[in-house]
Amino acid sequence: MSEHLTVVTHPLVQHKLTLMREKETSTAVFRQLLREISQLLAYEVTRELDMTTKHIETPIQAMDAPVLAGKKLALISILRAGNGLLDGVLELIPLARVGFVGLYRDEKTLQPVQYYFKVPTELEDRLVIAVDPMLATGNSSVAAIDLLKEAGAKNIRFLCLLAAPEGIARMKEAHPDVPIVTAAVDEKLNEHGYIVPGLGDAGDRMFGTK
Ligand code: URA
Repeated sequence: MSEHLTVVTHPLVQHKLTLMREKETSTAVFRQLLREISQLLAYEVTRELDMTTKHIETPIQAMDAPVLAGKKLALISILRAGNGLLDGVLELIPLARVGFVGLYRDEKTLQPVQYYFKVPTELEDRLVIAVDPMLATGNSSVAAIDLLKEAGAKNIRFLCLLAAPEGIARMKEAHPDVPIVTAAVDEKLNEHGYIVPGLGDAGDRMFGTK
């Protein structure tokens, strides 16, 4: 991808995002919408995958038809909210390998603390798509990408649902080589590091923990 930031303005994405933002939206509906929206975002983040052709026969005649070049893909969920995006993306790309980076945000310092890291082998040969619904301060996203690069990843994309200008700037500074795909860029962060207007705590909303 050539752009550092891609905002997916498709009407279906925007409509579903609005429903997700509403505070009255139930956990079940939120989760379903996240699944649907993640597939639409996956469509965008994979738009420029390498293609090749395969010789096939249709019921009418033979042809060389386009297929994915088979470049190895790895989806990396940044726990725990990343799992909400992961499910939908995996439905669209079932052959992708999957990894997990566990980071929690220290509520006082807002700094990420690592508690889990398990990723597929040969990361250096794969297109790595890191998923996390909320790009807020950017601290955990930057830390997760740092870890993925340390593990060998060279071709990384970051997929989120909502981004704050602060997080985008932080990612651009730390990882200018990592394109970001998001459904919206919101106004700002509040004093607690939440995206405004945002949708609240994505993990709590998708898992019903509050
Ligand atoms: N994480 C969330 O879940 N929501 C925010 O607004 C910011 C970080």
